[in-house]
Amino acid sequence: MTVTHYLADWRPFPYEIAETRLEFDLAPRATRVLSQIDFRRLSAGDLVLDGIGLDTLSLAIDGKPLPLDLIDAERGRLTLPAADLPDSFTFAAEVAIDPEANTALEGLYLSGGIFCTQCEAEGFRHITWYPDRPDVMAPFRVTINSDMPVLLSNGNPVSRAEGRAIWHDPWPKPAYLFALVAGDLRAVPDSFTTMSGRKVALNVWVRPGDEGRAGYAMESLIRSMQWDERVYGREYDLDVFNIVAVDDFNMGAMENKGLNIFNSKLVLASPETATDGDYERIEGVIGHEYFHNWTGNRITCRDWFQLCLKEGLTVFRDQQFTADMRSPAVNRIQDVQALRARQFREDAGPLAHPPRPDRYQEINNFYTATVYEKGAEVIGMLKRLVGDDGYRAALDLYFDRHDGQACTIEDWLRVFEDATGRDLTQFKRWYTDAGTPRLTMTEDWADGALTLHFRQETAPTPGQPDKPARVIPIALGLIGPNGDEVLPTTVLEMTAAEQSVSFRDTGARPVVSLLRGFSAPVTVAREIGADQQALLLTHDTDPYARWQAGRDLALDGLIARAAGRTGGEEFTRAIAGILDDAEADPAFAALCLTLPGEEEIATAIAARGAIPDPASIHQARRGLMQEIGTRHEPVLARLYDAMAVAGPYRPDAEGAGRRSLRLACLALLTQLDDGARAAALFDTAGNMTERQGALEQLIAAGRDEQALAAFAAEFGDNRLVMDKWFMVQPLRAAPDKALARARELAARADFDWKNPNRFRALIAGFTANHAAFHAADGSGYDFLAEWLMRLDPVNPQTAARMCSAFETIARYDSARQVRARAALKRIAAMPGLSRNTDEMVSRILA
Ligand code: PHE
Ligand code: ZN
Repeated sequence: MTVTHYLADWRPFPYEIAETRLEFDLAPRATRVLSQIDFRRLSAGDLVLDGIGLDTLSLAIDGKPLPLDLIDAERGRLTLPAADLPDSFTFAAEVAIDPEANTALEGLYLSGGIFCTQCEAEGFRHITWYPDRPDVMAPFRVTINSDMPVLLSNGNPVSRAEGRAIWHDPWPKPAYLFALVAGDLRAVPDSFTTMSGRKVALNVWVRPGDEGRAGYAMESLIRSMQWDERVYGREYDLDVFNIVAVDDFNMGAMENKGLNIFNSKLVLASPETATDGDYERIEGVIGHEYFHNWTGNRITCRDWFQLCLKEGLTVFRDQQFTADMRSPAVNRIQDVQALRARQFREDAGPLAHPPRPDRYQEINNFYTATVYEKGAEVIGMLKRLVGDDGYRAALDLYFDRHDGQACTIEDWLRVFEDATGRDLTQFKRWYTDAGTPRLTMTEDWADGALTLHFRQETAPTPGQPDKPARVIPIALGLIGPNGDEVLPTTVLEMTAAEQSVSFRDTGARPVVSLLRGFSAPVTVAREIGADQQALLLTHDTDPYARWQAGRDLALDGLIARAAGRTGGEEFTRAIAGILDDAEADPAFAALCLTLPGEEEIATAIAARGAIPDPASIHQARRGLMQEIGTRHEPVLARLYDAMAVAGPYRPDAEGAGRRSLRLACLALLTQLDDGARAAALFDTAGNMTERQGALEQLIAAGRDEQALAAFAAEFGDNRLVMDKWFMVQPLRAAPDKALARARELAARADFDWKNPNRFRALIAGFTANHAAFHAADGSGYDFLAEWLMRLDPVNPQTAARMCSAFETIARYDSARQVRARAALKRIAAMPGLSRNTDEMVSRILA
């Protein structure tokens, strides 16, 4: 039975909660949960509570037992008729649950002997009977009975005695923000004094032995707290803030009030075990979860259709934070790259949905790049349209007006309208309409005037055939033929389907630097010659636009090569300029020097109406890398040496930038030296960034045997590092070797596939090997299907999320489509398939 939930069906909950009291007697196989909930009637209506998989021992109202046959186990509901309920009353339940059997990692479960919870989005109903919806908020009082040395819940500690801890969270919250942790954990402690002088105890909790790898997480937390005070004027509001690292976690991390729970890969880091990318993600996600305290917790979502209210805003805030901590230009380019790779891809396929969807079957399938990353882009556009002061005024009003409430996108837009006087009716389409607009620009040059004609179109998406025009902020500048900027950044507000603008007195015909800073999440189609692209790559004042010019130039060359022609000559030549001043900004140079990935090339080919051939794309990319390497060998070799960082490793942006340029050079040089430099770097590097980078090159060059053995010998007992080992092999192996490698790895005893990190490392590592996953014989599709079918009964959330590897199949030839669809149909036909995976597969097959 599939039930579709609709935004239009939302109704207020007819009761409010004065307090929720929970008592847990923890035991791996039989945890007893006692709840007492003080309800007050708000309006007419039955009291409907959610509960799944609960062994209900007793139910009572004001101490009077209720019959257990009120439970509809099939639908996961307990309905108490309004007529039987006084205006205010205490509902009590006693249930038993089995954390050890909980492999779905939703609700209360065990990870490496640690009791922990995950309640977003609808996990609390696996713990006890409750109105499990985000608009029902309550203060919580939690008692934990257990012999475990560390017992944690939300809020402030009330008391601690032998075998018992009591916690109280005074801030009303929905059940999805509830958390409990119990285990043998060690704290890395610190403290923070807020701007109003309140002292907060901070702890990062890890397993004994991991304390030495939690320091960076703590530093990141303190920087986040400072930043939110400085930039948003937001202060922390409890006496303690706890972060716990667990090894088994479906997602990255969770913002539970005062008790964030993290996937250990986003907490633990040391120079020997974590890459620069890992450090950067740790800082970003620690920030993200901390920032949720205001955008998500103090102000939460009315219903799950509004998920991007908290996620889009919090991603936007964590991106601002990262930009402030590191290089804004480089981070912007990285964010755009990620958006294109994940969100544009989603928007162009069968899983397309708006940032605020209006229907779903399984909400866990909507924690997507669209809700998160596009949700953040939409806020970036809003900020561009109302200006920095308008944005600040709107956010102040948002916190002021909505603190303590569960809100909607309408509430959010209204604060911008009220604070700035702007009408956002048309802007709202960004929230309600799916699909990536395509912006076409053509140019007229006559009588010394440059006229730009813009047209916007958005292709139909599932359920949305018509796409009215949106507001598109188009930031542009003009670069004269000699490289001087003749028009600094100007923002045009496009509101119609077609619009034109003219510029005079610009001297000789300039080149348009379009969509500066990636001012809107659109694709661009324009006529531009290779000379003009090269001019922008060399002279544009906007780093994003400069990088993009190089990207387009490279893509043109790669597409030609994949079609069997020559190509990439202009890019190879233009790269000289980048190499010349690479040392001024190594991170930026590294981004310019790294060719678009195979998936990105396939996307560009499909966008031009052709059918991508994965094997030719792979060849084309390697061929161009070889040519670039050959052409620039001396300077690449010099840069490779020059970018070695002396002294102890530090995970800062500067060092990371040098290492990224070094590895970009290495990738090109490996095409010529057959892995000699990579082998030497692997043996000598003192940090994981360079070791992993070198290892990836060795795998691609087919010279990996020794290095892989050495790596496993050294890190065999470190789960997080071994995840890298499992990931890089299927990812970097030659396309005709990757599947055999993946199968071999999957057969190993240490392929602990029930652990989401390990599963994703191997399986998603393989599917990210474009030419291997899309092998012509369908073997890649079969491999994925086989593993998804195995994982689904164990962990539906993670299985469902990984179905998205199939979302691009429509762009390939019909033989591949037939094979991919056959694989999907096998999944769809599996008896007992989860609602999660069923929804994903049906949408892709539709
Ligand atoms: N709310 C979490 C975040 O964005 C993500 C998450 C969702 C984690 C669902 C677990 C389950 O920070
Ligand atoms: Zn979030």
